[in-house]
Amino acid sequence: MPVDRILERGIVIVDGIEVVRSVTIDAGIIEGIYEPGSEPPASERISCEGLYILPGVIDIHVHMRDLEQDDKEEFSTGTMAAAAGGVTTVVDMPNSVPPTITHKDLEEKIAIATEKRYVNVGFYAGIPSKIRHVEERLIPQILGFKVYPHTPLTEGTHYTKERLRECMKLSAEYGIPLLFHPASAEIDAKPKTHDDFFQLHSCENEVESLKQFLEIKAEFYESRLHVCHVSCGTTARILLEHRAEDTLTAEVTPHHLFLTGGEFSHDDGRAKMLPPLRSPYDNEALLQGLSSTCGIDCVVSDHAPHETFEKRLPFRDAESGIPGLETLLPLMLTAVFEDKISWLDYLRVCSSGPARILGITGKGVIAKGYDADITVVSRENWEIRGRDFHSKAKITPFEGQNVKARPVITIVGGEVVYSYGGFFADPGVVGRVPLRRLR
Ligand code: NCD
Ligand code: ZN
Ligand code: ZN
Ligand code: ZN
Repeated sequence: MPVDRILERGIVIVDGIEVVRSVTIDAGIIEGIYEPGSEPPASERISCEGLYILPGVIDIHVHMRDLEQDDKEEFSTGTMAAAAGGVTTVVDMPNSVPPTITHKDLEEKIAIATEKRYVNVGFYAGIPSKIRHVEERLIPQILGFKVYPHTPLTEGTHYTKERLRECMKLSAEYGIPLLFHPASAEIDAKPKTHDDFFQLHSCENEVESLKQFLEIKAEFYESRLHVCHVSCGTTARILLEHRAEDTLTAEVTPHHLFLTGGEFSHDDGRAKMLPPLRSPYDNEALLQGLSSTCGIDCVVSDHAPHETFEKRLPFRDAESGIPGLETLLPLMLTAVFEDKISWLDYLRVCSSGPARILGITGKGVIAKGYDADITVVSRENWEIRGRDFHSKAKITPFEGQNVKARPVITIVGGEVVYSYGGFFADPGVVGRVPLRRLR
């Protein structure tokens, strides 16, 4: 019996080295990796000569919006952006409108995502104001709880020490990660000026928030804490000091690795996001944290789509957040091709690391028996242009930037979803919703 599909003679990374291999897919699973000439017969052959065969990116920090904010993004456009960007799994944040807190909220999102998806979709949930209202039946359907101490998801919630303690206890009891946006004070009012914004979202504030969480975490040995979008060198250093395998993990975005605030004019809303862009010193420390010290575990896009008119405003009035699903892989692989990070680090921070953090087993690696979630990448020079995004959000601070890698074919669960600009699966067919935590 021939296997379903073969990706023929592409470049595969084995022990950190580029080698020519063919990858076979059968029943949605990677069937094997073969030296050229020794491949089994296949029903469909896809030539990958000169192209890289890599595990799809697992992006564990994405805002898919939809529901009442479907003008910003929908699960269809968001997961098409993912597929076009070489991202085969996204995990959706709960700060939607309405927020995802109850089992009913989640069921509604799952139903929409199931119908509209082009890739695998997992979910996080927020924590209700009264912790005893957490619904047990929600737990198997989420990959973690997410909290925003500076802008709680429900009114009347305050991130006091006592609440932090209850959240951490929840993580320990259910063996599920607690994710947090590191910002300490409540920011109820909109910052009035440009300077207010940077003062509220300073590195000191990020560090203070991390310290508050670490102090409480120490009381709950079994808890798992994941720090979202680390943006400051000092935060990276503190993380490294507190690392304990798997129980404290952290992520960084490409924009915090590769952009600085100083590159953008004072009043430019296009580069407004949380946390804000920092200094070249921070870029360097974050890149080191990701590669040499491994104090940071993974890269995420923090894909936070907004409408064009919401971004083309003076800095103070613009919405925070930028699209990122279609630029993450090109930017990270450009760093590989420019020798800023190694192949092994790339594979760890973009695919296997994020899968490990959330306990998504069977994904994130090109190896026999793993899910066939694969991106085929061409090493070529091109220029990032927001208007070409599949996301509804078209305004990117990477506009005009030259990159050296382009995802050309995306395979989810063994099926070709995206190939050279076209989509080859109907929505709601490939991938799994919701992704479940398996350990
Ligand atoms: C995010 C959003 O728009 O939902 N914005 C952002 O600037 N990153 C929220 C967040 O991730 O904190
Ligand atoms: Zn308040
Ligand atoms: Zn955040
Ligand atoms: Zn976010």
